[in-house]
Amino acid sequence: MKLFHNIRKLYTPLGSIVLSGVAMDGMHEIEDAAILVRDDGTIEEVGPASSFIPHPSSFSIDCRGLVALPGFVDSHTHCVFAGERSQEAAMRAEGRSYQEIAAMGGGIRSSVEQVRSASVEEIVAYSKPFVKRALDLGTTTMEVKSGYGLSTSDERKLLGAAARLGIETAMEVVITYLGAHAVPRGKSQSEYVDEIVNEQLPALHGLAEFCDVFMDEGYFTREETIRICTRAKELGMKIKLHADELAETDGAHTAVQLGTYSADHLLKISEEGIRALAASERTVATLLPITALSLRAPYAPARKLIDAGCAVAIATDCNPGSAMSENMQLAMSLAVFGMQMTPAEALTAATLNGAAALDRAKTHGSLERNKLADFVLYDIPRLDYLPYHVGVSDIVSVVKRGKIVSGEKL
Ligand code: NIG
Ligand code: FE
Repeated sequence: MKLFHNIRKLYTPLGSIVLSGVAMDGMHEIEDAAILVRDDGTIEEVGPASSFIPHPSSFSIDCRGLVALPGFVDSHTHCVFAGERSQEAAMRAEGRSYQEIAAMGGGIRSSVEQVRSASVEEIVAYSKPFVKRALDLGTTTMEVKSGYGLSTSDERKLLGAAARLGIETAMEVVITYLGAHAVPRGKSQSEYVDEIVNEQLPALHGLAEFCDVFMDEGYFTREETIRICTRAKELGMKIKLHADELAETDGAHTAVQLGTYSADHLLKISEEGIRALAASERTVATLLPITALSLRAPYAPARKLIDAGCAVAIATDCNPGSAMSENMQLAMSLAVFGMQMTPAEALTAATLNGAAALDRAKTHGSLERNKLADFVLYDIPRLDYLPYHVGVSDIVSVVKRGKIVSGEKL
């Protein structure tokens, strides 16, 4: 066992289920805390240091009066790709829209060309620094979606690369198949949906835990989405949805009907969509403020969603097109300053609710007995300081399953 002690303050949401509405603001705070970690990387006990009886066989680690928070669970990324697209960001700065740039040959299809001409090794080599930096920035679990392959063999290559990112770094990677990200050149919409249902899903379902669909104007319709998700569920996959990002297409409501773990983006969500999510026990509203910032679009209505009783998560959306950032602290700053969330709500959204969006609320996302010892030590005075210090990391050490995997060794 390992005893991490001399933690000046520890903050964590509590629970093994998603927190919705007002519960998101309820942060548990312990002064002079300690965390006792079992050899398998789970937590034996967490609480005030005074409540710990010294354990003869435990090895102790002095956390030097730092502040401990749960590691971030980044529940939405496309962090397996083979090249950047910064010229598109410059085009948006000149006033062109995401859809216009895609029609001009940029967008998802240009990342598809980069991926198709790269080997698995090249894709891993390109993506790994992003995953490592995410870990340095406090993310200990990260979802990674395929979706820049758009054929059975290229999607297989991306899913294999995503798995290797998890093996070759200390990051815990959760894999999602997103064959329905765009229609590749040379195929009609209906041919490609048939290919996903009849060929890609049967061949690839064992390589990913979740199946996601980009349901949006110009991408996949509600009917196509239902068809793809129904097939994925038959094959034993769990579902997520990109919903109501570019236009309101009944995405949030469809996500709830399909029983998805999350409905993501929601920049254009309707009142009816908000009501559907508020009534859902399972579907987390995953907001991606770095994408809104990068697309120069208004933020998702986080305050309305939380006040209506929804469960909100935040994630980076890390991808070369609409959100080139692996920084969850930045997502928290934007949640607080751009979307009027409190620092406590933003932390719940970035940890426990992200875990719920990945069906991991029982084991991840909060610091409690029997959960994973995934935590981050910061040199900050209090939780409020984390989103307040915009764009700068005050992390000293990152701990994954009880082991220091980034930063100072202590
Ligand atoms: O989440 N919305 C769909 N997919 C990404 C963008 C992907 C890209 O532009 O490469 C997103 O924003
Ligand atoms: Fe996305």
